[in-house]
Amino acid sequence: MCGIVGGIAERNVVPVLLEGLRRLEYRGYDSAGLAVIDGKNIRRKREVGKVQGLDDLIKADPMSGSIGIAHTRWATHGKPSTTNAHPHVSRNRVAVVHNGIIENHEDLRNAQKQLGYEFTSETDTEVIVHEIDHALETADGLLNAVKQTVKKLEGAYALGIISTANPNLLIACRKGSPLVIGVGIGEYFIASDVAALLPVTQRFIFLEDGDIAALQIDQLVIYDAEDNIVQRPIKESQLKADAVDKGNFRHYMLKEIYEQPFAISQTLEGHFINHRLQENSFGHNAGEIFDQVKSVQILACGTSYHAGLVARYWFERLARVPCDIEVASEFRYRHPVLAPGTLVITISQSGETADTLAALQEAKKQGAKYAVAICNVPESSLVRESDLALMTRAGPEIGVASTKAFTTQLATLMMLVIAIGRRFHLPNALEEKITSELFALPGKIEKVLELDGQVSELAEQFAEKEHALFLGRGTHYPIAMEGALKLKEISYIHAEAYPAGELKHGPLALIDADMPVITVAPNNSLLEKLKSNMQEVSARGGQLIVFMDETLVPAQDGNVQYIKVPQIENEVAPIVFTIPLQLLAYHVAVLKGTDVDQPRNLAKSVTVE
Ligand code: AGP
Repeated sequence: MCGIVGGIAERNVVPVLLEGLRRLEYRGYDSAGLAVIDGKNIRRKREVGKVQGLDDLIKADPMSGSIGIAHTRWATHGKPSTTNAHPHVSRNRVAVVHNGIIENHEDLRNAQKQLGYEFTSETDTEVIVHEIDHALETADGLLNAVKQTVKKLEGAYALGIISTANPNLLIACRKGSPLVIGVGIGEYFIASDVAALLPVTQRFIFLEDGDIAALQIDQLVIYDAEDNIVQRPIKESQLKADAVDKGNFRHYMLKEIYEQPFAISQTLEGHFINHRLQENSFGHNAGEIFDQVKSVQILACGTSYHAGLVARYWFERLARVPCDIEVASEFRYRHPVLAPGTLVITISQSGETADTLAALQEAKKQGAKYAVAICNVPESSLVRESDLALMTRAGPEIGVASTKAFTTQLATLMMLVIAIGRRFHLPNALEEKITSELFALPGKIEKVLELDGQVSELAEQFAEKEHALFLGRGTHYPIAMEGALKLKEISYIHAEAYPAGELKHGPLALIDADMPVITVAPNNSLLEKLKSNMQEVSARGGQLIVFMDETLVPAQDGNVQYIKVPQIENEVAPIVFTIPLQLLAYHVAVLKGTDVDQPRNLAKSVTVE
């Protein structure tokens, strides 16, 4: 999704802004641009495609400045093009970069046309820059012009603004889209994600909704939504600048797949004493919140939603906790009824997914007393807006296709199932068994990663395919869904997941020798049922690829290939069976030559609706 970087310093900020844009590339974008104030002029360069293209343009015709803004755009209003790329400029006086969506842009555009403003883009953003320019006619300086303008904007925005009217002032505004200030020594920067600024500072101020910040080299003033001057705390980031490096891996996604054993141990770390979960490790108020739970409502999107689907099985089957789950973008508009005592659990890697944040707000509106977030980014909006946050400690996830965030979400959800399940019907012995399984996970995943070579060979059969089916049952149905999502996201092969029992109700019609059917087959109580479903595929000439528990004896009939997955106890098996599916999607994408880490049309953090 769109990314913002900006800065004001004694030095030339252009290299900092370009490096910042590179560090935001993982979020997904289709064009990039940069503007600085150079004397009495705004100088701007924009380019469709990679940040490297913008860098090349600047090398060919160098520009510099001690105040500037830059942007990576992910098209919403208007196609990817140079004229739609940010920064947008009005009358060589104001330049703006914008993340989010301005909902009343049409009304503003019509009014501005009447005033004589000419539009050079199809974006919603251009109305912001003209509105500020118009306000400058009467307002006392840029800050006041911005304050007047934001009052007229409906929708969500994070803004970086510069103007020749006040060439030593950088303005940052936040409403609904994240924005941080990086505090340097005698310099300030802004960005939509701390990762962009790690090479220049570890100290950050997280703006709150409605904040407007006025940054000068030696002064920072923040105004809240009511126009009061406020102090926001400076937080030290634990992230190192190299935390977002690829290391020796060819792609971030592969690195992140291989980081999973460590990420899971980190996520479990500090929550157990003598293998007994300490629920106060989640927060001082955790016990009080869990005591009031009568049922659970999970809200999430994409991969995080799949983690929630697994958790629903766990909550209900293991602990008899009533649990519902819904895709956040549907929940937010459904006027749902939440029974008293419903604990809302949101799941999100980024903590900035617009639909999940809006669903949380809707749940609160419908009377939810407590909300728990499972999230990978401590400073995110979701964490700040929840009563309790359970952090996954996966480390920065850069690949657009989520991997280590998913498995750490599952580990965290299992801890939550234990904590809440104790108040319901989770037997002690089962709690102890699950706890041991959780601790054994990193070792098991190390072993599954040894299948990489085999899975890579298997991938060769997929490179020419256009479709694939994924089958699973019980907790492994959401794992099949996740496998299908991974494959379609990065290899662009159309993939669908079905609960295996549903096959005969329609999808069986798709089966022929050209349709690979990937089946997740752990050794559990549903195995015999699953075998029958696999036979339905074999009998129709389908090509079965079965990820199977190594303790099972493979049947030899039909067009079937087996990949044996190291034996794993039942409850956490979904976490382990996810790994080969991630590897499969990865290797297929590499063979197809797609952009694995930044697949087309997608963004890492979906901050618009
Ligand atoms: C995962 O591979 C996807 N890129 C996507 O579905 C993602 O999980 C979804 O957008 C939700 O993101 P979040 O976890 O940051 O809220």
